[in-house]
Amino acid sequence: MRAVITGGAGFLGSHLCDTLLARGDQVVCLDNLSTGRIENVAHMIGQPGFVFSRADVSAGLDIDGPVDVVAHFASAASPPDYQRMPLETLAVGSRGTENALRLAEVSGARFVLASTSEIYGDPAVHPQSEEYWGNVNPIGPRSVYDEAKRFAEALTRAYGSARGVNVGIIRIFNTYGPRMSATDMDALSPTSSPRR
Ligand SMILES: NC(=O)c1ccc[n+]([C@@H]2O[C@H](COP(=O)([O-])OP(=O)(O)OC[C@H]3O[C@@H](n4cnc5c(N)ncnc54)[C@H](O)[C@@H]3O)[C@@H](O)[C@H]2O)c1
Repeated sequence: MRAVITGGAGFLGSHLCDTLLARGDQVVCLDNLSTGRIENVAHMIGQPGFVFSRADVSAGLDIDGPVDVVAHFASAASPPDYQRMPLETLAVGSRGTENALRLAEVSGARFVLASTSEIYGDPAVHPQSEEYWGNVNPIGPRSVYDEAKRFAEALTRAYGSARGVNVGIIRIFNTYGPRMSATDMDALSPTSSPRR
């Protein structure tokens, strides 16, 4: 399988690159390093089957050759990051998602969106099931992230129904582990609100 991973030098994306490469897949990792780190993928650079390209996926995805899977993980995810980069966050959730979907469409590839529990906003229901629609303030402090991801989900569904792209959406809840950024670790303190 040849997989394109956007945001592949980030916390989660780099682990996905590791896993796919270890099982023998080819990986094209695209990242603009806005919140990710080259150190996260440095051990893969030079390995057969791995290509890293520094690129802004909101501007376009230019990939030669066959593609079997597009995994769209690019987006600031930590509240301090997306509040520092509100326009970039909206751009990667909207234009970046559409660019990644178009690549999947022309390639006949499976498309997977890394979405978030934040599409539920400040939920009135606990725990949240997939049937719950959420409670989001469209102009609140988390809106650039929450609404970008909600738009990305809607766009993904529309490419599935209107264009026949094989799509999937993962709503990831708070995740932690090696390669998590220092700003996220601050967010785990008991006095902060890390939900994303
Ligand atoms: N970590 C979590 O707990 C969590 C929870 C829910 C959803 N998610 C989602 O998973 C994905 C990865 O999150 P993460 O925690 O690894 O964050 P991260 O900040 O470590 O990784 C995001 C990566 O995307 C890259 N990126 C951002 N904008 C880009 C652009 N325009 N072009 C190319 N690359 C770009 C960044 O440089 C970074 O490497 C995000 O889409 C996030 O919304 C994460």
